[in-house]
Amino acid sequence: MATNLAEKYSNPGPRYTSYPTIPSWSTDGITQEQWKEAMVKGFNDSNETSGISMYIHIPYCENYCYFCGCNAHRTQDHSYEDPYIDALLKEWQMYLDVFPGTLNVKELHIGGGTPTFLSPRNLTRLIDGLFSHVNRMEGHIFSFETNPRSTTREHLEALYNGGFRRVSFGIQDFDPIVQKEINRPQSFELVKEKVDLARQIGFTSVNFDLVYGLPKQTLATITDTIEKVMELRPDRLAFYAYGHNPHMYEGQRRFKEEDLPVGDAKQELYDKGRAMLESIGYHEIGMDHFAIEGDALYEAAKSGTLHRNFMGYTENTTQMMLALGSSSISDTWYAFAQNERTDGAYIKAVNEGRFPLHRGHLLTDEDLVLRRHILNLMCRQETSWADPKLYTDELDVTLMRLEDMQNDGMVVLGEKSVRVTEAGIPYLRNICMAFDALLWRSDSLSKAYNVSRDIQKGYIEKARLAKEQKEKAL
Ligand SMILES: C[S@@+](CC[C@H](N)C(=O)[O-])C[C@H]1O[C@@H](n2cnc3c(N)ncnc32)[C@H](O)[C@@H]1O
Ligand code: SF4
Repeated sequence: MATNLAEKYSNPGPRYTSYPTIPSWSTDGITQEQWKEAMVKGFNDSNETSGISMYIHIPYCENYCYFCGCNAHRTQDHSYEDPYIDALLKEWQMYLDVFPGTLNVKELHIGGGTPTFLSPRNLTRLIDGLFSHVNRMEGHIFSFETNPRSTTREHLEALYNGGFRRVSFGIQDFDPIVQKEINRPQSFELVKEKVDLARQIGFTSVNFDLVYGLPKQTLATITDTIEKVMELRPDRLAFYAYGHNPHMYEGQRRFKEEDLPVGDAKQELYDKGRAMLESIGYHEIGMDHFAIEGDALYEAAKSGTLHRNFMGYTENTTQMMLALGSSSISDTWYAFAQNERTDGAYIKAVNEGRFPLHRGHLLTDEDLVLRRHILNLMCRQETSWADPKLYTDELDVTLMRLEDMQNDGMVVLGEKSVRVTEAGIPYLRNICMAFDALLWRSDSLSKAYNVSRDIQKGYIEKARLAKEQKEKAL
């Protein structure tokens, strides 16, 4: 059955780290005043209770990994560091001036690019600057991601002294042939040295990022990679499907299409990796993520408190994510805003004294309801709209879009509920797409994600007739 489903549901789907997804954001965008209002609303809702989460984007990388789809500025020139940190601290001050009280920070993640592109001295300057006027909440969770090659003892110590206890290493794949294809030579010995060093310094949680579907990956190379991973035993793993968008990323145009595992071959790589990880005690969390028993992510999944934001899965359920730096995305729950995408445009806007907004979206009432259901499915694999506050007309159409998946054993539909089965978990994205009203309404997105506009029209008509009949019967 799994193989047939892999074929049938091989169309791409958004990762749903947000709803609406970025391509569906309103073209009206968001003004500086609307953004300030949305931030204050998010602050008043959650600062005293759950606190807020922060993300900081460091866009620079010394390396150029050809597979990479991140927002990265490749350079060897470290004179970029100082003006960028100055801008981050200025942007931070602009937020602090807007909030009506002292901010409580529960979670901070520094990502990129490569945060350890910054010197240890500059990392310390950044952290000290951020926390000079805000509270670190008790039990705060500070994490950063890094490329093992550019991580030194001094970097790890600077971050540890700043309160960081979690480190995420980009591994991708250990096979030398695959590494050559993606221009990322990185030996097992080097990775082991950095992982051991981090643990010795006192980091209590180590995450690895792996990717399947890279050029020249085979079942044999994945087996070998996962065996090496098992030796180092990270607490958590992200096992991402390679996203191939050569029209957007020049590096990806260097790959030969025939070297890329797709469809069943790609799914088999994931299935193999998953089976190996599960055989030694890792548990799949939602989609793409694994954790060992006892890890906070695993416990959150077990107790139904898992959350998902732009960073992926987290055990922390803060409502507001405040993001600094180029291309980063903030979320107040009621509104999203993305910063200027390049470091140059970002620094310029901040130096001119305005929030460096590139685009944004104010959520409609329908967006807020659908967002809740997509979040429930991604985190708990079930959702219900028995509560009228969680109902919107679109859900009648959603149920019809899911009927075929029910026939395929992927979901169980109730009158006002959906539950994902074991067989449906690998297809969470496809299941969430049934709730994505904006995707189905858009010509360009329905084309990009291979969903049929004619079928969509049929669903809408059927839902309208069913509603009419129900109303007549009352
Ligand atoms: C900012 S990078 C990680 C930190 C660091 N720069 C490094 O490379 O080690 C974030 C992660 O995104 C994932 N990623 C990047 N490009 C991807 C793509 N095209 N498809 C799937 N995952 C991708 C990789 O697993 C990568 O580790
Ligand atoms: S994978 Fe990491 S190091 Fe490589 S280019 Fe992307 S962000 Fe930079």
